[in-house]
Amino acid sequence: MTSTAAIPLADPALADRLTARLALVEEALRDTVAHADALADDASRHLVNAGGKRLRPLLTLLVAELGDGARREVVDAAVVVELTHLATLYHDDVMDSAPLRRGAPSAHEVWGNSVAILTGDLLFARASTTVAGLGPEAVRIQARTFERLCLGQLHETVGPREGDDPVAHYLQVLADKTASLLATSARLGAMFAGCPPAVVSTVTEFGERIGVAFQLADDVIDLTADGSLTGKTPGTDLRERVPTMPVLLLRELCASPDATDEDRAVLALLDGDLTDDAALLTAVAALREHRVVALTRERAVALAMDAVRVLDPLPEGPVKSALVSFADALVDRAS
Ligand code: IPE
Ligand code: IPE
Ligand code: MG
Ligand code: MG
Repeated sequence: MTSTAAIPLADPALADRLTARLALVEEALRDTVAHADALADDASRHLVNAGGKRLRPLLTLLVAELGDGARREVVDAAVVVELTHLATLYHDDVMDSAPLRRGAPSAHEVWGNSVAILTGDLLFARASTTVAGLGPEAVRIQARTFERLCLGQLHETVGPREGDDPVAHYLQVLADKTASLLATSARLGAMFAGCPPAVVSTVTEFGERIGVAFQLADDVIDLTADGSLTGKTPGTDLRERVPTMPVLLLRELCASPDATDEDRAVLALLDGDLTDDAALLTAVAALREHRVVALTRERAVALAMDAVRVLDPLPEGPVKSALVSFADALVDRAS
Protein backbone atom coordinates (compact mmCIF):
# COMPACT_ATOMS: atom_id res chain seq x y z
CA MET A 1 0.00 0.00 0.00
CA THR A 2 1.49 3.35 -1.06
CA SER A 3 0.42 6.55 0.61
CA THR A 4 0.12 9.80 -1.31
CA ALA A 5 -0.24 12.66 1.13
CA ALA A 6 -2.94 11.68 3.63
CA ILE A 7 -4.63 9.02 1.47
CA PRO A 8 -3.69 5.33 1.20
CA LEU A 9 -3.62 4.19 -2.45
CA ALA A 10 -3.73 0.49 -3.31
CA ASP A 11 -2.63 0.87 -6.96
CA PRO A 12 1.13 1.57 -7.17
CA ALA A 13 1.03 2.92 -10.76
CA LEU A 14 -1.73 5.38 -9.84
CA ALA A 15 0.17 6.37 -6.68
CA ASP A 16 3.33 7.02 -8.71
CA ARG A 17 1.50 9.21 -11.22
CA LEU A 18 -0.20 11.21 -8.47
CA THR A 19 3.04 11.63 -6.52
CA ALA A 20 4.78 12.96 -9.64
CA ARG A 21 1.94 15.39 -10.36
CA LEU A 22 1.74 16.54 -6.74
CA ALA A 23 5.43 17.44 -7.06
CA LEU A 24 4.52 19.61 -10.08
CA VAL A 25 1.77 21.24 -8.01
CA GLU A 26 4.26 21.98 -5.20
CA GLU A 27 6.70 23.57 -7.63
CA ALA A 28 3.96 25.65 -9.24
CA LEU A 29 2.57 26.70 -5.84
CA ARG A 30 5.94 28.01 -4.73
CA ASP A 31 6.45 29.86 -8.03
CA THR A 32 2.94 31.29 -7.94
CA VAL A 33 3.17 32.81 -4.44
CA ALA A 34 6.58 34.48 -5.05
CA HIS A 35 6.79 38.27 -4.64
CA ALA A 36 9.58 40.77 -5.22
CA ASP A 37 8.47 42.54 -2.03
CA ALA A 38 10.16 40.77 0.90
CA LEU A 39 7.25 41.03 3.36
CA ALA A 40 4.66 39.92 0.79
CA ASP A 41 6.97 37.05 -0.18
CA ASP A 42 7.62 35.87 3.40
CA ALA A 43 4.02 36.14 4.50
CA SER A 44 2.70 34.41 1.35
CA ARG A 45 5.14 31.51 1.66
CA HIS A 46 4.54 31.08 5.37
CA LEU A 47 1.67 28.57 5.13
CA VAL A 48 2.74 26.99 1.84
CA ASN A 49 6.04 26.09 3.48
CA ALA A 50 4.38 24.96 6.71
CA GLY A 51 2.91 21.98 4.83
CA GLY A 52 -0.69 20.84 5.11
CA LYS A 53 -2.32 17.76 3.71
CA ARG A 54 -2.87 19.09 0.15
CA LEU A 55 -6.21 17.26 0.08
CA ARG A 56 -7.83 19.56 -2.47
CA PRO A 57 -5.07 19.33 -5.11
CA LEU A 58 -4.92 15.59 -4.50
CA LEU A 59 -8.66 15.32 -5.17
CA THR A 60 -8.27 17.35 -8.39
CA LEU A 61 -5.42 15.14 -9.61
CA LEU A 62 -7.14 11.92 -8.59
CA VAL A 63 -10.45 12.74 -10.26
CA ALA A 64 -8.56 13.82 -13.39
CA GLU A 65 -7.40 10.21 -13.70
CA LEU A 66 -10.94 9.45 -14.88
CA GLY A 67 -9.88 11.24 -18.08
CA ASP A 68 -6.56 12.58 -19.33
CA GLY A 69 -4.89 13.39 -16.02
CA ALA A 70 -1.59 14.34 -17.66
CA ARG A 71 -2.85 17.67 -19.02
CA ARG A 72 -1.08 20.76 -17.70
CA GLU A 73 -4.44 22.44 -17.00
CA VAL A 74 -5.12 19.78 -14.37
CA VAL A 75 -2.01 20.81 -12.42
CA ASP A 76 -2.99 24.49 -12.77
CA ALA A 77 -6.48 23.70 -11.47
CA ALA A 78 -4.91 21.91 -8.47
CA VAL A 79 -2.81 25.01 -7.78
CA VAL A 80 -5.92 27.22 -7.94
CA VAL A 81 -7.83 25.18 -5.36
CA GLU A 82 -4.90 25.01 -2.91
CA LEU A 83 -4.27 28.77 -3.23
CA THR A 84 -7.94 29.49 -2.65
CA HIS A 85 -7.85 27.25 0.42
CA LEU A 86 -4.70 28.99 1.67
CA ALA A 87 -6.25 32.41 1.29
CA THR A 88 -9.21 31.31 3.43
CA LEU A 89 -6.89 29.89 6.11
CA TYR A 90 -5.15 33.27 6.58
CA HIS A 91 -8.53 34.95 6.97
CA ASP A 92 -10.03 32.18 9.09
CA ASP A 93 -7.23 32.27 11.65
CA VAL A 94 -7.80 35.99 12.15
CA MET A 95 -11.54 35.43 12.56
CA ASP A 96 -11.05 32.50 14.96
CA SER A 97 -8.05 34.05 16.81
CA ALA A 98 -6.29 30.73 16.17
CA PRO A 99 -2.69 30.75 17.40
CA LEU A 100 -1.41 27.77 15.36
CA ARG A 101 -1.87 26.59 11.78
CA ARG A 102 -0.07 23.69 10.12
CA GLY A 103 2.10 23.45 13.22
CA ALA A 104 3.41 27.00 12.74
CA PRO A 105 2.34 30.23 14.46
CA SER A 106 -0.54 31.58 12.39
CA ALA A 107 0.25 34.56 10.17
CA HIS A 108 -1.57 37.08 12.39
CA GLU A 109 0.56 35.94 15.35
CA VAL A 110 3.69 36.70 13.34
CA TRP A 111 2.73 39.85 11.42
CA GLY A 112 -0.56 41.04 12.94
CA ASN A 113 -4.12 40.97 11.62
CA SER A 114 -3.75 43.50 8.80
CA VAL A 115 -0.80 41.72 7.17
CA ALA A 116 -2.51 38.34 7.57
CA ILE A 117 -5.71 39.59 5.91
CA LEU A 118 -3.82 41.29 3.08
CA THR A 119 -1.71 38.17 2.51
CA GLY A 120 -4.90 36.14 2.15
CA ASP A 121 -6.01 38.69 -0.45
CA LEU A 122 -2.66 38.46 -2.26
CA LEU A 123 -2.98 34.69 -2.46
CA PHE A 124 -6.48 35.04 -3.78
CA ALA A 125 -5.20 37.46 -6.42
CA ARG A 126 -2.58 34.94 -7.51
CA ALA A 127 -5.21 32.18 -7.63
CA SER A 128 -7.24 34.49 -9.87
CA THR A 129 -4.30 34.99 -12.25
CA THR A 130 -3.82 31.22 -12.55
CA VAL A 131 -7.52 30.50 -13.01
CA ALA A 132 -7.73 33.17 -15.73
CA GLY A 133 -5.39 30.97 -17.78
CA LEU A 134 -7.98 28.18 -17.55
CA GLY A 135 -10.73 30.20 -19.24
CA PRO A 136 -14.02 31.93 -18.35
CA GLU A 137 -15.91 28.83 -17.20
CA ALA A 138 -13.21 28.05 -14.62
CA VAL A 139 -13.17 31.72 -13.54
CA ARG A 140 -16.93 31.61 -13.02
CA ILE A 141 -16.72 28.38 -11.00
CA GLN A 142 -13.90 29.76 -8.86
CA ALA A 143 -15.74 33.04 -8.27
CA ARG A 144 -18.93 31.24 -7.26
CA THR A 145 -16.91 28.99 -4.92
CA PHE A 146 -15.26 31.96 -3.25
CA GLU A 147 -18.67 33.55 -2.85
CA ARG A 148 -19.95 30.40 -1.10
CA LEU A 149 -16.83 30.31 1.11
CA CYS A 150 -17.45 33.90 2.20
CA LEU A 151 -21.17 33.32 2.76
CA GLY A 152 -20.40 30.20 4.82
CA GLN A 153 -18.02 32.16 7.03
CA LEU A 154 -20.49 35.04 7.22
CA HIS A 155 -23.42 32.83 8.22
CA GLU A 156 -21.24 31.03 10.77
CA THR A 157 -20.34 34.43 12.24
CA VAL A 158 -23.89 35.76 12.50
CA GLY A 159 -25.53 32.44 13.44
CA PRO A 160 -29.05 31.23 12.69
CA ARG A 161 -31.90 33.70 12.44
CA GLU A 162 -34.82 33.56 14.85
CA GLY A 163 -36.80 30.40 14.06
CA ASP A 164 -34.02 28.70 12.04
CA ASP A 165 -33.00 25.22 13.14
CA PRO A 166 -29.39 25.67 14.42
CA VAL A 167 -28.24 22.23 13.22
CA ALA A 168 -29.67 22.71 9.71
CA HIS A 169 -28.14 26.21 9.62
CA TYR A 170 -24.78 24.78 10.63
CA LEU A 171 -24.88 22.05 7.95
CA GLN A 172 -25.49 24.77 5.35
CA VAL A 173 -22.54 26.72 6.77
CA LEU A 174 -20.32 23.63 6.37
CA ALA A 175 -21.55 23.02 2.84
CA ASP A 176 -20.67 26.61 1.92
CA LYS A 177 -17.44 27.19 3.81
CA THR A 178 -15.84 23.77 3.23
CA ALA A 179 -17.74 21.51 0.83
CA SER A 180 -17.92 24.15 -1.91
CA LEU A 181 -14.15 24.04 -2.44
CA LEU A 182 -13.90 20.24 -2.28
CA ALA A 183 -16.70 20.06 -4.87
CA THR A 184 -14.83 22.54 -7.07
CA SER A 185 -11.55 20.64 -6.62
CA ALA A 186 -13.20 17.52 -8.02
CA ARG A 187 -15.14 19.42 -10.68
CA LEU A 188 -12.14 21.23 -12.16
CA GLY A 189 -10.12 17.98 -12.17
CA ALA A 190 -12.78 16.20 -14.20
CA MET A 191 -13.41 19.19 -16.49
CA PHE A 192 -9.79 19.74 -17.41
CA ALA A 193 -9.14 16.03 -17.90
CA GLY A 194 -11.86 16.13 -20.57
CA CYS A 195 -14.39 13.92 -18.75
CA PRO A 196 -18.00 13.83 -20.01
CA PRO A 197 -20.55 16.12 -18.25
CA ALA A 198 -22.16 13.20 -16.35
CA VAL A 199 -18.80 12.33 -14.76
CA VAL A 200 -18.17 16.00 -13.93
CA SER A 201 -21.54 16.16 -12.10
CA THR A 202 -20.95 12.88 -10.27
CA VAL A 203 -17.58 13.92 -8.86
CA THR A 204 -18.85 17.42 -8.02
CA GLU A 205 -21.63 15.89 -5.92
CA PHE A 206 -19.09 13.52 -4.34
CA GLY A 207 -16.90 16.50 -3.37
CA GLU A 208 -19.86 18.37 -1.93
CA ARG A 209 -20.83 15.44 0.32
CA ILE A 210 -17.35 14.53 1.51
CA GLY A 211 -16.76 18.20 2.23
CA VAL A 212 -19.50 18.28 4.88
CA ALA A 213 -18.32 14.92 6.27
CA PHE A 214 -14.76 16.25 6.41
CA GLN A 215 -15.70 19.37 8.34
CA LEU A 216 -17.79 17.35 10.83
CA ALA A 217 -14.76 15.09 11.35
CA ASP A 218 -12.73 18.27 11.89
CA ASP A 219 -15.14 19.30 14.67
CA VAL A 220 -14.43 15.99 16.40
CA ILE A 221 -10.67 16.22 15.87
CA ASP A 222 -10.62 19.71 17.37
CA LEU A 223 -11.70 18.06 20.64
CA THR A 224 -10.03 14.67 20.54
CA ALA A 225 -6.68 15.04 18.80
CA ASP A 226 -3.41 16.31 20.11
CA GLY A 227 -2.34 19.69 18.70
CA SER A 228 0.96 18.14 17.62
CA LEU A 229 -0.97 15.92 15.18
CA THR A 230 -3.35 18.54 13.78
CA GLY A 231 -0.98 21.49 13.86
CA LYS A 232 -3.84 23.45 15.46
CA THR A 233 -4.65 24.35 19.07
CA PRO A 234 -7.39 22.06 20.50
CA GLY A 235 -10.49 23.86 21.77
CA THR A 236 -9.87 27.06 19.77
CA ASP A 237 -13.47 27.06 18.52
CA LEU A 238 -14.84 26.56 22.05
CA ARG A 239 -12.85 29.47 23.40
CA GLU A 240 -13.88 31.74 20.53
CA ARG A 241 -17.53 30.57 20.77
CA VAL A 242 -17.44 29.36 17.18
CA PRO A 243 -20.28 26.84 16.94
CA THR A 244 -19.44 23.22 16.14
CA MET A 245 -21.70 20.21 15.73
CA PRO A 246 -20.97 18.61 19.16
CA VAL A 247 -21.85 21.87 20.92
CA LEU A 248 -25.01 22.39 18.86
CA LEU A 249 -26.14 18.82 19.58
CA LEU A 250 -25.50 19.35 23.29
CA ARG A 251 -27.51 22.58 23.27
CA GLU A 252 -30.35 20.80 21.47
CA LEU A 253 -30.24 18.00 24.04
CA CYS A 254 -30.19 20.43 26.98
CA ALA A 255 -33.27 22.19 25.61
CA SER A 256 -35.19 18.88 25.69
CA PRO A 257 -36.81 17.16 28.70
CA ASP A 258 -34.39 14.21 28.23
CA ALA A 259 -31.39 16.24 29.41
CA THR A 260 -29.67 14.99 32.57
CA ASP A 261 -27.84 17.05 35.20
CA GLU A 262 -24.57 15.76 33.70
CA ASP A 263 -25.52 17.09 30.25
CA ARG A 264 -26.33 20.48 31.75
CA ALA A 265 -23.11 20.50 33.74
CA VAL A 266 -21.05 19.99 30.57
CA LEU A 267 -22.93 22.79 28.80
CA ALA A 268 -22.39 25.09 31.79
CA LEU A 269 -18.64 24.42 31.52
CA LEU A 270 -18.69 25.33 27.82
CA ASP A 271 -20.66 28.50 28.50
CA GLY A 272 -18.34 29.50 31.37
CA ASP A 273 -15.23 31.66 31.16
CA LEU A 274 -12.69 29.81 28.94
CA THR A 275 -9.97 32.44 28.79
CA ASP A 276 -7.87 30.51 31.28
CA ASP A 277 -5.98 27.54 29.69
CA ALA A 278 -6.92 25.18 32.54
CA ALA A 279 -10.63 26.05 32.19
CA LEU A 280 -10.45 25.40 28.44
CA LEU A 281 -8.75 22.03 28.99
CA THR A 282 -11.44 21.02 31.50
CA ALA A 283 -14.20 22.02 29.08
CA VAL A 284 -12.56 20.17 26.16
CA ALA A 285 -12.08 17.06 28.33
CA ALA A 286 -15.72 17.08 29.50
CA LEU A 287 -17.13 17.54 26.02
CA ARG A 288 -14.80 14.92 24.54
CA GLU A 289 -16.34 12.28 26.83
CA HIS A 290 -19.92 13.26 25.98
CA ARG A 291 -21.90 11.15 23.52
CA VAL A 292 -22.53 14.18 21.25
CA VAL A 293 -18.97 13.68 19.99
CA ALA A 294 -19.71 10.08 18.97
CA LEU A 295 -22.96 11.30 17.37
CA THR A 296 -21.03 13.88 15.35
CA ARG A 297 -18.59 11.19 14.23
CA GLU A 298 -21.52 8.95 13.20
CA ARG A 299 -22.97 11.77 11.10
CA ALA A 300 -19.61 12.25 9.40
CA VAL A 301 -19.34 8.54 8.61
CA ALA A 302 -22.92 8.42 7.29
CA LEU A 303 -22.25 11.39 5.00
CA ALA A 304 -19.04 9.81 3.73
CA MET A 305 -21.02 6.65 2.94
CA ASP A 306 -23.57 8.76 1.03
CA ALA A 307 -20.69 10.30 -0.89
CA VAL A 308 -19.38 6.86 -1.84
CA ARG A 309 -22.83 5.85 -3.11
CA VAL A 310 -22.79 8.88 -5.41
CA LEU A 311 -19.83 7.24 -7.17
CA ASP A 312 -21.96 4.24 -8.27
CA PRO A 313 -22.20 5.30 -11.96
CA LEU A 314 -18.39 5.50 -12.31
CA PRO A 315 -16.60 2.50 -13.83
CA GLU A 316 -14.98 0.11 -11.34
CA GLY A 317 -11.20 0.46 -11.19
CA PRO A 318 -8.29 1.93 -9.27
CA VAL A 319 -9.53 5.54 -9.49
CA LYS A 320 -12.96 4.72 -8.07
CA SER A 321 -11.32 2.62 -5.31
CA ALA A 322 -9.01 5.52 -4.51
CA LEU A 323 -11.97 7.93 -4.29
CA VAL A 324 -13.62 5.53 -1.81
CA SER A 325 -10.35 5.47 0.20
CA PHE A 326 -10.29 9.27 0.03
CA ALA A 327 -13.79 9.48 1.53
CA ASP A 328 -12.91 6.91 4.23
CA ALA A 329 -9.65 8.63 5.13
CA LEU A 330 -11.35 12.01 5.61
CA VAL A 331 -13.62 10.66 8.32
CA ASP A 332 -11.24 8.01 9.75
CA ARG A 333 -9.18 10.94 11.03
CA ALA A 334 -11.92 11.37 13.63
CA SER A 335 -11.80 7.75 14.93
C1 IPE B 1 -8.58 23.05 7.26
O1 IPE B 1 -8.48 22.25 6.13
C2 IPE B 1 -9.82 23.84 7.16
C3 IPE B 1 -11.01 23.02 7.07
C4 IPE B 1 -11.84 23.15 6.11
C5 IPE B 1 -11.28 22.03 8.12
P1 IPE B 1 -7.41 21.10 6.06
O2 IPE B 1 -7.58 20.17 7.23
O3 IPE B 1 -7.47 20.47 4.71
O4 IPE B 1 -6.05 21.88 6.25
P2 IPE B 1 -4.60 21.66 5.66
O5 IPE B 1 -4.64 22.10 4.24
O6 IPE B 1 -4.25 20.20 5.79
O7 IPE B 1 -3.73 22.53 6.51
C1 IPE C 1 -11.69 26.65 8.11
O1 IPE C 1 -12.76 26.60 8.93
C2 IPE C 1 -11.77 27.72 7.05
C3 IPE C 1 -12.72 27.50 5.98
C4 IPE C 1 -13.29 26.36 5.74
C5 IPE C 1 -13.03 28.61 5.10
P1 IPE C 1 -12.61 26.23 10.46
O2 IPE C 1 -12.33 27.44 11.25
O3 IPE C 1 -13.82 25.47 10.83
O4 IPE C 1 -11.39 25.21 10.45
P2 IPE C 1 -10.06 25.14 11.29
O5 IPE C 1 -10.37 24.23 12.43
O6 IPE C 1 -9.66 26.50 11.69
O7 IPE C 1 -9.07 24.49 10.35
MG1 MG D 1 -10.63 28.12 12.18
MG1 MG E 1 -13.42 29.26 11.29
